[in-house]
Amino acid sequence: MSNSRRTFAIISHPDAGKTTLTEKLLLQGGAIHLAGQVKARGAARRARSDWMKIEQQRGISVTSSVMTFERTDANGETVTFNLLDTPGHEDFSEDTYRTLTAVDSAIMVIDAAKGIEPQTRKLFEVCRLRSVPIITFINKVDREGRACFDLLDEVADMLALDVCPMSWPVGMGGLFQGIYDLESGKVSRPEGPSKEFLGKVDENVELPEEVAEEMELAQVGYPDFDLEAYRAGDLTPVYFGSALKNFGVTELIEAISQYAPPPRPQPTEEGPIDPEMPEVTGFIFKVQANMDPMHRDRIAFMRLASGTFKRGMKLTPSGLGKAIAVHSPIMFFAQDREIADTAEPGDIIGIPNHGTLRVGDTLSEKNKIRYIGLPNFAPEILRRVALKDPTKTKQLRKALDDLSEEGVIQVFYPEIGAQWIVGVVGQLQLEVLISRLEAEYKVEAMLEASPFDTARWIKGTDKALDDFESFNKMNLARDRDGDLVFMARSAWDVNYQQERNPELTFSATKER
Ligand code: G4P
Repeated sequence: MSNSRRTFAIISHPDAGKTTLTEKLLLQGGAIHLAGQVKARGAARRARSDWMKIEQQRGISVTSSVMTFERTDANGETVTFNLLDTPGHEDFSEDTYRTLTAVDSAIMVIDAAKGIEPQTRKLFEVCRLRSVPIITFINKVDREGRACFDLLDEVADMLALDVCPMSWPVGMGGLFQGIYDLESGKVSRPEGPSKEFLGKVDENVELPEEVAEEMELAQVGYPDFDLEAYRAGDLTPVYFGSALKNFGVTELIEAISQYAPPPRPQPTEEGPIDPEMPEVTGFIFKVQANMDPMHRDRIAFMRLASGTFKRGMKLTPSGLGKAIAVHSPIMFFAQDREIADTAEPGDIIGIPNHGTLRVGDTLSEKNKIRYIGLPNFAPEILRRVALKDPTKTKQLRKALDDLSEEGVIQVFYPEIGAQWIVGVVGQLQLEVLISRLEAEYKVEAMLEASPFDTARWIKGTDKALDDFESFNKMNLARDRDGDLVFMARSAWDVNYQQERNPELTFSATKER
């Protein structure tokens, strides 16, 4: 059963066409009936909460969400797709990283005119780190773009992997005539005057001579598609298309059906767990508070890693140690949330809770295994938080704890002094913080410069830690779990302390 699941994410730089492509994929799956609904829904959601305003103003997406849809593939098999949306901004690499722990593959969308941008490259590196296989979609070929061979070579060079073109645009920009499938030799081409057309297969099309030559070159100049190499993350099949005009989208979704890996074994301290294992197990990769500002709800997103989940089932969260009954698990469809009666490995379910579930928690029937691989990253920007109204300390603490749980920020409570410090990877997170503090917690806060430059989690024997603490109290803080953190004034400071305290480890990441 579980091998009919395809759990994947779309990664791209802002404006490459991720939203448009998502819309068209959902349309293909029959999950939505009118293009435009993804955006419309997004707009309605944004209207309800203040911090989403940032998303709107900047034209970027700052939260990840999940969408599930089904489609019957070319072989008549029904495939269930779980599409995990990732933030398209480099500031949110930590959130993105966590989302990528929950997928089995990714689609990288590139704008044909722009090629690969630095943010996309960063996302790619995260995929690489987790050996997530990637299918490349070169979008907007209906516009004037860069030469196809240049784009292919750029993907190959910058990402240091083999590329295999699977389709080819017949003309680009104003001369765009359709997409040629390099395997079947069929061309899908536009039909009719309507802007929203589906690609139609026209086998009798005569290709202009130079296009035919180009395609021959493309076929001989690159390695053949090799499923094993793709799944190992060493080769990316490349599809050309236009999300807006709905070209190449069918080919893309077929490729996900046919080639993208079904749910993969997930890592634990004792080795990988196979999705076929009968015990129900999963891990929380994301927690989102206040999805509905009317209710103080808090949803933990769990990727089911093994077993068949049934509603009402008792699972033990590793962070809690006692079993909870999961009565109202949520599945996310394009337009609705629904209560899930069952779920299979690869599925994502949302579990409403009041703080019992945390990112990195394993949920299981027997409470024996622990999934690994969800780190915190050392922040690159540190700021002191100052309250405009000092009586709001309690609310601020709650808000900082919640938002650090979501991965919006990290929070550090200094051992000496009362001014709390927040850490982020990018500037934009700070704006989200201020705006969400106001909108959701009614807390007005200001951010001030902090003397610190970065932070390192410290580990060692109790004695070594005590010794270090007695000399460095001014530079120590606790994170929201109470773990000891060295607040460094510079990279030099980190190296210096590391050399002086060889019995301690200073770590730039922390396993959750
Ligand atoms: P994103 O989620 O990756 O940020 O990108 P999004 O889909 O919002 O697309 C960014 C812009 O690119 C949009 O135009 C969209 O219509 C356009 N676009 C997406 N795919 C294609 C394509 O295949 N061909 C062409 N020509 N354009 C495409 P916009 O003007 O910014 O927004 P809108 O007013 O059209 O919604």
